[in-house]
Amino acid sequence: MNHFHYVKNELYCEEVPVREVAEQAGTPFYLYSHATLERHIQRFRQAFAEVPHLVCFSAKANSNLAVLRVFVNNGAGIDIVSGGELYRARKAGCEPQKIVYSGVGKTEGEIHQALAADILMFNVESEQELEKIDAVAGASRKKARIAIRVNPDVDPQTHPYISTGMKKAKFGINIGQALYQYRKAAALANIEVVGVDCHIGSQLTKLSPFVDAIAKIRELVQALQQEGFATRYLDLGGGLGITYADETPPDFEEYAQAVIDATRDLGVTLIFEPGRVLVGNAGILVCRVLYTKKGEVKNFVITDAGMNDLARPSLYGSYHGIIAIDRSRTETLTADVVGPICESGDFLAQDREIPAFRPGDLVAVTSAGAYGFTMSSNYNSRPRAAEILVKGQKILTVRRRETLEDLIRGETVPESL
Ligand code: LLP
Repeated sequence: MNHFHYVKNELYCEEVPVREVAEQAGTPFYLYSHATLERHIQRFRQAFAEVPHLVCFSAKANSNLAVLRVFVNNGAGIDIVSGGELYRARKAGCEPQKIVYSGVGKTEGEIHQALAADILMFNVESEQELEKIDAVAGASRKKARIAIRVNPDVDPQTHPYISTGMKKAKFGINIGQALYQYRKAAALANIEVVGVDCHIGSQLTKLSPFVDAIAKIRELVQALQQEGFATRYLDLGGGLGITYADETPPDFEEYAQAVIDATRDLGVTLIFEPGRVLVGNAGILVCRVLYTKKGEVKNFVITDAGMNDLARPSLYGSYHGIIAIDRSRTETLTADVVGPICESGDFLAQDREIPAFRPGDLVAVTSAGAYGFTMSSNYNSRPRAAEILVKGQKILTVRRRETLEDLIRGETVPESL
């Protein structure tokens, strides 16, 4: 459910015609719906209302400060993976006690910053990281709260690049070694064990991998509790998928019921790190058709957004809907929708039946709110797109379009050249 809809063949975001935003902001731009963001976080939290829980939005999916603020205003915490995301979470007003920190490569400096901020907990991904956190905490006379990220060896049945919970993945500690690592953690002077963590992958469209993972992790939590560990938190990561084309992922209530049933007796506070499911369908990428061209074997629609703006189609072969902002014209054509980047892999859609676009037409690339702007780059020296938030009738610029000056910020030509 989202708040992008047509009124008399004209695409609206909430109460604003998207065309009006394009006239104000220029193209390309990301457009987010405030009402959709709020609805998603409120429904997710509501689904778990009967059990103690904390929802930490995964900032990597969309780290715009205004988006983070909407979640924080609605009681959420934030899941971070870098010092940069910690900085953003704090700027967005997130309480440190609602921040969890995952990631396989936390640096000493980042660990130090997170300890100084007094975040809720570190999700530890290796034995050496555990030792490093202990050392950094000791040096600053602090105790670090930790959970160990356990790798339950479950196949999430998603794209291999975004599968994280299998034995061959770089993430977490294999479940077979977890008890040994926990005992080791308990013996470290500056570490306080507070929970167990796991995240098995992203864009999961079935419940069974979640249920299988929890079944394995339950045994670990119970073994830890028997040994006297105070495992207060069970962090189940993110991963719930969305509909890009015709996927039918479980809804929040189905997901919540399965999780609650499998964890109710453990006496823990559940933590979740949803990213995509909260923001994916709350955002679109709006661009303009520059040219159309008929190749010998293919038609091309060339837009002013490319793989530097939205990398997912090029990187994962991901599907995003391509729709017209003005859908009064009904003819269609089969074409590749491509950007201006000098790479053959620069496409937003391939061999797709789409409206018969003409130069100047506005196009919406749908379900682009997650891993859209955050994965964008300046490749080909293209300033990054603006980000706009619509709230009711209001058009709010939450990140201005980059300028040419932004492109070279931080660069110098040494005098000796
Ligand atoms: N927690 C951890 C530890 C994660 O690694 C991730 C995502 C999440 C939470 C949030 O997962 P979500 O709820 O969004 O599925 N760039 C890829 C997705 C990479 C996901 C990385 N980790 C894409 O565009 O599909």
